Amino acid sequence: MKTAYYSLDENQIDPEVIRKAAETVKNGGLVAFPTETVYGLGADALNPEAAARIYAAKGRPSDNPLIVHIADLQALDAIAGPVPEAALKLAEEFWPGPLTMIFHKKECVPKQTTGGLSTVAVRMPANRIALELIRASGGYIAAPSANLSGRPSPTSGAHVREDMDGRIDMILDGGDARIGLESTIVDLTEEIPMILRPGYISIDMIRKSLGKAEYDPAIEGGLASGQAPKAPGMKYRHYAPKGELTIVSGEREAVVAYIRARIACKKPDQRIGVIATEETESLYNADIVLNIGSAEDEEAIARHLYGVLRSFDEQQADLIYSEAFYGCRIGQAIMNRLIKAAGHHIIEVS
Ligand code: TXA
Ligand code: MG
Repeated sequence: MKTAYYSLDENQIDPEVIRKAAETVKNGGLVAFPTETVYGLGADALNPEAAARIYAAKGRPSDNPLIVHIADLQALDAIAGPVPEAALKLAEEFWPGPLTMIFHKKECVPKQTTGGLSTVAVRMPANRIALELIRASGGYIAAPSANLSGRPSPTSGAHVREDMDGRIDMILDGGDARIGLESTIVDLTEEIPMILRPGYISIDMIRKSLGKAEYDPAIEGGLASGQAPKAPGMKYRHYAPKGELTIVSGEREAVVAYIRARIACKKPDQRIGVIATEETESLYNADIVLNIGSAEDEEAIARHLYGVLRSFDEQQADLIYSEAFYGCRIGQAIMNRLIKAAGHHIIEVS
C-alpha cells in the first residue's frame, strides 16, 4: 500500500487535505494524525472492519481496546451512557485536552473498537488538525497511538512514517507533539474515579476537581503485583527500545558514579547509551549520550522521552542506562512509561 503524506500547519489548515483524509476515514481507511499527546492511528470508530484494520496495521493484540476521539461534547451521548456528573465536570475543565474517560458503551460502538469490553474510552484532543478531521469524518475516530505495537509512541510525523509507511492510507504531519506522553485515563464507571494510566493531568488535578480519585492498584506494582490492570493495554511491555534499558535511581552523584562505572567496564563490542539531563550530560563518556532536558523541567523530559528512546534504536545501543526523573506533577507518568520501557529493571544506588 502506498501511504500518502501531507504536512499541515495547525494555524492554517489546508481544507482540501482534511477533505481527502475524511473521505479516507469514511471509506474505512486508516489516517494517522497529530494530537497534543502523541500521534493517533485513526479509523471510523463505528465501522467494525475499519477498527479491525487498526489492529492489523499496528500488530496489536485484539483484546486491547481503542480510544474514541470526539470533537464536540454533544457527540458523547450517542456512544456513552449514562454520563455521570463527574464526567461533565472533568470535560468542562480538561477537554479538549490530554484526558480520556471510560464510560459504559452504547450499542452503536462495535466490539472491535472496545476490544470486546462493554465500556468505551473517549477523549477530545486539543489539536486543531485532529478536531477538524474528526468533525469532517462523521464525529467518531478510534485511534491508538500510531506506532507499531511494542515501539515507543510517535511524537512526530517522522516517527509515524518510520513505523507505518506502507501499512496505512495516509499520514497527516502536524509537527512535534506538545506534550509527548499519552493521555491520563480515568474510569468513571465506578463509585470512585480510578486512574488507569497516569498522564499530563495528574491525580491531584482530578481530586481537586472531583474531591476524590484513586490509582488502579495494578499501575503501581506493575505486573509484579499479580493484579490485572483495568486498562488492558497497561499489561503489555510497551515502549521498549531494542537495547536493554536499566534505570538507575538515587541521589544524583551516586547515580552518575554508578553509570560511569558501568561505562568504564563495558565489553569492547558493546555500544552503551545514556539518558542524561542537561545538568549531567557532560559527565558521561559513553558511545551515545542523549540529553532529555533539564532535570528541573519535567515538561521537556515528557516531550523528549519517546524520541530519545527511538534514537537509541537508530544508533543501535546494546545497553542503555537512564537516570530516574522525579518531577512533582507529571513525574509519575514519566516514570510509569520509563519503567515499562525498562521491563521494570531499576537499580537503587546510594
Ligand atoms: O493520548 C492518547 O491517549 C493517545 C492519543 C492518540 O489520543 N492514544 C493512546 O491510545 O494512547 P493507545 O491505544 O495507545 O492506548 C489506549 C489505552 C490502552 O491501554 C487501552 O487498554 C486503554 O486505553 N483503554 C481503551 N479503552 C478502554 C476501556 N474501555 N477500558 C479500559 N481501558 C481502556
Ligand atoms: Mg499505545
